[in-house]
Amino acid sequence: MSDPRAYLEDALPRFRSELFEFLRIPSVSADSEHDADTRRAAGWLRERMEEAGLAAEVVDTARHPVVLGEWRGAGPGAPTVLIYGHYDVQPPDPVGLWTSPAFEPEIRDGRIYARGSADDKGQLYMHLKAIEAHLQSHGALPANVILLAEGEEEIGSPNLVPFVREYRERLAADAVVISDSAMFAPGQPSILFSLRGLAYFEIRVRGAVSDLHSGSYGGAVANPGNALASIVASLHHADGRVAIEGFYDDVLAWDAEIRDQIRGLPFDEGGFLDAVGAPELAGEAGYSTLERLWIRPTCDVNGLLSGYTGEGAKTVLPSAAMAKVSCRLVPEQTPERVAELMRSHVERHAPAGVSVEVVELHGGRPWRSNVDGQLLAAASRCLERSFGAAPVLVGEGGSIPIVVDFEEILEAPALLIGFALPGANMHAPDEWFPVENFEKGIEALTYLYDELAG
Ligand code: BES
Ligand code: MN
Ligand code: MN
Repeated sequence: MSDPRAYLEDALPRFRSELFEFLRIPSVSADSEHDADTRRAAGWLRERMEEAGLAAEVVDTARHPVVLGEWRGAGPGAPTVLIYGHYDVQPPDPVGLWTSPAFEPEIRDGRIYARGSADDKGQLYMHLKAIEAHLQSHGALPANVILLAEGEEEIGSPNLVPFVREYRERLAADAVVISDSAMFAPGQPSILFSLRGLAYFEIRVRGAVSDLHSGSYGGAVANPGNALASIVASLHHADGRVAIEGFYDDVLAWDAEIRDQIRGLPFDEGGFLDAVGAPELAGEAGYSTLERLWIRPTCDVNGLLSGYTGEGAKTVLPSAAMAKVSCRLVPEQTPERVAELMRSHVERHAPAGVSVEVVELHGGRPWRSNVDGQLLAAASRCLERSFGAAPVLVGEGGSIPIVVDFEEILEAPALLIGFALPGANMHAPDEWFPVENFEKGIEALTYLYDELAG
């Protein structure tokens, strides 16, 4: 028996090749053609949990299973930590734009390139390896642990809230720890103070029963393409503010402390613009880029569909048009309220001559951190020990809808420490995760248990 740190030194190369095995399984939750792969990933994870020293099971849900691992050896007097992550991934599309295939992990320039390397298999796996470092080196952890891995995060976690409710007593914990986000910059560990929520819609516009000749009918019959364009245009004011009536009513004005914190971060605006590659940055007037990303809500077209989009010109009056539109939400907005506001806005702004329908797809509530000073200090110490730099508090523009449900159902605070880097290409071609963060992150998470118990 040795100490966990010595164990890590020997085991890190093996951890890397094991992660590669995990990344090779195309557990694409959205695509039913990959249902067997998704199940295989769950089974593979269960076996690795058992090997690490957890009692683990695959629990079926209506769609993709949950993998649940537990170690209760610290006893009822010790704290219990619930670790959450997801083993499902986004589709690899567009596959042609990957430098190396999405499910054939490859290291280039110190980065692991593969779908799921950052979001979230790599980070979920780090937690398991930190647990293993304790259990396989000295046979114990200073805290009880529950490791919950879901397979439906990328499709909106449709079965996880019922699961957490049903298993509420077994999942009882003093804190929920999640690594499914990014650090502020290389070498700069980060702890989240917020996540944005989400409200996702389809706006469907219908006109004539079928497409029409635009010469014979254009001008006398409403055009759903034109109508949708005017609805989409009505969603914003010229200064970038969202124009949906009442949209900002529930938006929290963050305290000066957080705004100062954001202003104090060494954000490289030019580097951000370069990486994005757009002609210039744009957004809501009166706010900085980081504020726009972290503490202000948005409304964005995600996709548009109408009429003829093939080669050359085709004179046609489309019979229908559709836009996928999503709003990123901030505390204290709710997806339900924003859906009501969106519906009435679209009704009010629908031009004459078409019928309009707003369909709600998935949503998720925004989150703000509830960690107390003690938990924050424990997390800060373990990150600083491993990365050699004290963590900064950051916001996150993306969403992890289950976080708020965990806090409500389990009555425990969530601690979000992510290890990916900005520009990690989550959901995009060439997703990557730094080898350095994989290794230092495992070390930090290994220390976390001592810090929590101490
Ligand atoms: N891990 C991401 C959330 C995230 C994104 C964190 C970017 C940090 C940076 C998560 O897997 C995700 O993709 N969430 C979805 C929401 C979900 C309902 C599909 C999102 O934010 O779009
Ligand atoms: Mn994720
Ligand atoms: Mn994701």
